[in-house]
Amino acid sequence: MKIKVLTLFKEMYEGFLSTSIIHRAIENDVVDIEVLDIREYALDKFKHVDDKPFGGGAGMVLKCQPVLDCLNANRNENSHVILTSPRGKQFTQEKAHALSKLDEIIILCGHYEGMDERINNYVDEEISIGDYVLTGGELPSMVMIDAIVRLLDGAINEASREDESYEQGLLEYPQYTQPANYEGMIVPPILVSGNHAKIKEWRMLKSLLLTKEKRPDLYESHVFSEEELKLLKKYEEDPSYLEYLEKGEFK
Ligand SMILES: C[S@@+](CC[C@H](N)C(=O)[O-])C[C@H]1O[C@@H](n2cnc3c(N)ncnc32)[C@H](O)[C@@H]1O
Repeated sequence: MKIKVLTLFKEMYEGFLSTSIIHRAIENDVVDIEVLDIREYALDKFKHVDDKPFGGGAGMVLKCQPVLDCLNANRNENSHVILTSPRGKQFTQEKAHALSKLDEIIILCGHYEGMDERINNYVDEEISIGDYVLTGGELPSMVMIDAIVRLLDGAINEASREDESYEQGLLEYPQYTQPANYEGMIVPPILVSGNHAKIKEWRMLKSLLLTKEKRPDLYESHVFSEEELKLLKKYEEDPSYLEYLEKGEFK
């Protein structure tokens, strides 16, 4: 997959692209990420990329010319062009999956007051990462790239993704590591029981109950599997079933 980012602040990507999973994915040719400087496409001597808004008001607006010249010089018929914008549709795990299947995406990063509205005629979609206003589209582009790249084949171990929050429409169950007893706080005994079927059951029940408690909206819209419905019925008939599972005292 190819990802191109159009920005005025290339230096913001240095740490992001040279660290951890994203770095490894680039090294292993899982993804090719190119960060392009919009300013290089400005035509005047002082490389102006912005100007005052028509009609008055505070701040500066990114001009059509440098942004669109940069975009047109770097797009092809396969490019899917995304404009980062607080007005866009909210980015989700589902969206990350959809974008991860494309050959090439181009992400436009606004800054200052944003982009000249006419630039919208050249983009496929506007995406927001949440209901708040950031200084620029650089962090939103990194958020999207991070979420997309970890879904690409070869970026991370497939198995570590399966039960992750949002993958099955639920939040993930609690995770623990060594030591089993940390200052008197012990891990649920089921996890050291070696009974993998019961561990799976406990994780499934915890995942369901945590989602119900923390994200009732997700829980409401979840499509329950037969296994989940059976387990919930067992729990609803006798809530101490969770405690029984957690103790891991099976024969
Ligand atoms: C300061 S913001 C402009 C805000 C704009 N004047 C408004 O009120 O909607 C500058 C740029 O940051 C990016 N940006 C800010 N918040 C964002 C968000 N929640 N999601 C995606 N991009 C965002 C966009 O690229 C935007 O053009």
